[in-house]
Amino acid sequence: MKRTHHCNELRPVHAGQTVTLTGWVHSRRDLGGVIFLDIRDREGRTQTVFDPSEVSSEVFELAASLRPESVVAVTGRVRLRPEGTVNPKIATGEVEVVAQGLEVLNRAEVLPFPVDDPEVAARVNEELRLKYRYLDLRRPEMLRNLRLRSRVATATRVYLEEQGFLEVETPTLFKSTPEGAREFLVPCRNHPGLFYALPQSPQQFKQILMVAGVERYFQLARCYRDEDLRADRQPEFTQIDIEMSFVEREDIYALVEGLLQRIWRVALGIELQRPFPRLRFREAMDRYGIDKPDTRFGMELVDLTETFRSSAFKVFSGAVAQGGVVKALNAKGMAGATQGQMEQLTSLAREFGAKGLAYIKVENGEWKSPIVKFFSEGEKATLQQRLQMEEGDLVLFAADEWQVACEILGRLRLQVAEWLRQSGRLRLDPMRFDFLWVEDFPLLSFDKENNRWYSSHHPFTAPVPEDIPLLRTDPRRVRGQHYDIVVNGVELGGGSIRIHQPEVQKLVFEEVLQLPPDLVKARFGYMLEAFRYGAPPHGGIALGFDRLVALLCGTPSIRDVIAFPKTAKGTCLMTESPGPVEPRQLRELHLELRVPPAKG
Ligand code: AMO
Ligand code: AMP
Repeated sequence: MKRTHHCNELRPVHAGQTVTLTGWVHSRRDLGGVIFLDIRDREGRTQTVFDPSEVSSEVFELAASLRPESVVAVTGRVRLRPEGTVNPKIATGEVEVVAQGLEVLNRAEVLPFPVDDPEVAARVNEELRLKYRYLDLRRPEMLRNLRLRSRVATATRVYLEEQGFLEVETPTLFKSTPEGAREFLVPCRNHPGLFYALPQSPQQFKQILMVAGVERYFQLARCYRDEDLRADRQPEFTQIDIEMSFVEREDIYALVEGLLQRIWRVALGIELQRPFPRLRFREAMDRYGIDKPDTRFGMELVDLTETFRSSAFKVFSGAVAQGGVVKALNAKGMAGATQGQMEQLTSLAREFGAKGLAYIKVENGEWKSPIVKFFSEGEKATLQQRLQMEEGDLVLFAADEWQVACEILGRLRLQVAEWLRQSGRLRLDPMRFDFLWVEDFPLLSFDKENNRWYSSHHPFTAPVPEDIPLLRTDPRRVRGQHYDIVVNGVELGGGSIRIHQPEVQKLVFEEVLQLPPDLVKARFGYMLEAFRYGAPPHGGIALGFDRLVALLCGTPSIRDVIAFPKTAKGTCLMTESPGPVEPRQLRELHLELRVPPAKG
């Protein structure tokens, strides 16, 4: 029996037609001697009715024997549902198919968890969902996510094609260049002791493609990073990877804004306003305490360094005397924070290096705080005015080095917003997307532990041209031509204008990052050489495709938009990977294992 319609297709106009549907038994209800089978396929579901007066007793018995999720073909006649039984919740709810024939294509055993009830499904633990991912993917929400992902990939390709880009595939057997995250290594049978590495991104290949004259490259590129995983990180993930020649930052911004505008239009019917706002790194940190600010709500950080420079409260004036800052944020309406919440805030602050967490609660017209007794009337007046303190507010302070103080309050700001959101006091429209560019990052950051500079982004990012002389004299002040695209507090992507002069690149590697010349030659020699044969000025960006789709689907976890994701421990529960290999395979690869025996 061949399908004539899919399960989301039949409407009152089809009444009287004989049709065949194929799909899964979504549910079976036996009511008053009649059996109702809801048949589901990718598109939707349709009710079929097995009435003993219409079908043979064999067919009726067969229908009665079916478990949910069995695969069937049903042939029957479409009719309008009787008065009062119309189901407005589904598109086919005005009709039903009076079955005449039934073919069982495959029977399903009892499922490890039900897939027909979204409420039950939402409560199933994620490990079980991942072990039986093929069942999980049958749920309409998951199918919707996959469908949206596919549509967004297509929209991306169409847009970039229109803009003159070529899609070029780059190798996923690459070599180890351990500058960024930890890599996955692949041993070679034919080259004893040598390894490929899986690429963290196509960064070097895409730059080489610019040297090759491709001018406009893109790829939906698979990337691999052996990092600690979180809800928004996977060991393998996909980027919309882009590189262009003869461009400046503005060209990349315009291209990406156009791409995102297209995607949001296609996926959600939302018209994004351009140009996106821009924020310097320094200002993002100063105002939001983070380089990927969520600007959908206020609670901005306020600088009080001058107010407390000569304060009697030594915790604050002492921090200023040591070159630090005093900053505060007003957690509006949080004066009622419980003891537990205050402890949680304090320990969050400590994780970011705070020595303590000074606060003021405004309750019953009074400032409740262990520290206000140290404040002068002038200091209190300034606080009142700068932080707009009102009944019910909670003011949190950080006195520390600038970056540390910003980061502490930035973290607290997010926690407070989360509590306000959970308690319904902060309402965020799910269809609101606050995009912004963060730019003017410092090119380099200093690693105190190892006493050396490292690249804030990656070593190929170009300095702002007028800062090049500072590379040797004052690296701290060198600004990079790096930019991040941020939306609702999520780092969606990042990129930069690249260094294209071999001598500048060499200087960054050898003098600034202090990599030994032979190491530079071994790892990046081919790139430095390529740059000597006519490298155009170029730049690009990579957008996290999984994060992008998760945002569009309104889910906080990228696992919900990847067909077969790994767990937080980096395992695949369905295929049970990673798994052991045979001694023979190890011998072929010239490897010997030294795994400590499992504990316990
Ligand atoms: P970067 O390392 O910033 O830049 O990565 C770009 C974007 O990729 C996404 N991303 C991830 N998504 C899921 N899981 C992960 N583990 C993960 N890691 C990163 C993020 C991030 O913003 N080659 C440069 C880009 C360039 O300079 O053109 C790069 O890879 O959304
Ligand atoms: P102390 O005088 O050390 O007991 O600190 C007084 C108050 O200031 C306590 O509530 C501390 O938690 C808080 N505090 C201490 N150091 C800092 C700091 N660097 N930033 C903000 N608050 C602090």
